Amino acid sequence: MRILSVILRVGAAMALIAGMAACNYRTLKDESNENPQGAGPTAQGKLQKSPGFAEIESRILGPHCLSCHNSASSQGGLNLDDIDLVQARIGVIYERVVVQGNMPPGGGLPADLRTQLKSWIDAGAPEVGGAEVTAVTRPYTFNKLAESFLQAKCLICHSGERPEGEMDLTTREQFVVNLKKIFSAIFVEKTMPLAPLPNLSQSEKMILLEWISLGSPE
Ligand code: HEC
Ligand code: HEC
Repeated sequence: MRILSVILRVGAAMALIAGMAACNYRTLKDESNENPQGAGPTAQGKLQKSPGFAEIESRILGPHCLSCHNSASSQGGLNLDDIDLVQARIGVIYERVVVQGNMPPGGGLPADLRTQLKSWIDAGAPEVGGAEVTAVTRPYTFNKLAESFLQAKCLICHSGERPEGEMDLTTREQFVVNLKKIFSAIFVEKTMPLAPLPNLSQSEKMILLEWISLGSPE
């Protein structure tokens, strides 16, 4: 089936990217190995605090980016003056700074700042930091995915009395019925989540792909 071969191809590419970015996914895997019974509240997920935009601006954008990417001099067509502009280009920022590591020119960011930027983007590039982000641990279930990132990044528009695109994705059943369209919207057409809301992070995409390949467990 065509969709299966697409899943495999995207899966292989994502595995490469994830390896380079040393993403949360590996940490999650290691954690679940340490806790093979999956028992107790720790199996529900680890709480992490995400940085906020002010911290990202003062530690990273101000000292390392704004000299070239501001309203007067938008090199590469990129202005990083405020959070809306940054969120609107979050995918390409992630790609160049976290994955490829070639921005700023001449070696990229120091490793600790790269990690900090990554955790901010993984948290959904929020304005206010300190929010506790629940990391998903195995075994993956629809509810865990929903709690961790689908709620904030998809269900916020695709639920309620008048869901966007007339597509309610609140339950596993509704999600699975629309899986082909969802897969295409995220991985092929890349139209969802709708800009300027932040995209799914690389680790969230990996987890979603793995959940699909496991047969979308309940
Ligand atoms: C010394 C100047 C300079 C600094 C500092 C700098 N950049 Fe750039 N940036 C450029 C130039 C020039 C380009 C266009 C050429 C290219 O894509 O490599 C660019 C391109 C980019 C692009 C690609 C835009 C696109 O649409 O393809 C991104 C994303 C980016 N920069 C992000 C950043 C971030 C984030 C920082 C800080 C961590 C940063 N840059 C620091 C000069 C700079
Ligand atoms: C900011 C609101 C918003 C968010 C967030 C959002 N969507 Fe959508 N979505 C829409 C709107 C509006 C449409 C209908 C217009 C369109 O197709 O562009 C739509 C349409 C769709 C469609 C139908 C596309 C088609 O080909 O028929 C799918 C599938 C979808 N969304 C999945 C998702 C998924 C999965 C997420 C989370 C990763 C998500 N959306 C996040 C607003 C949103």
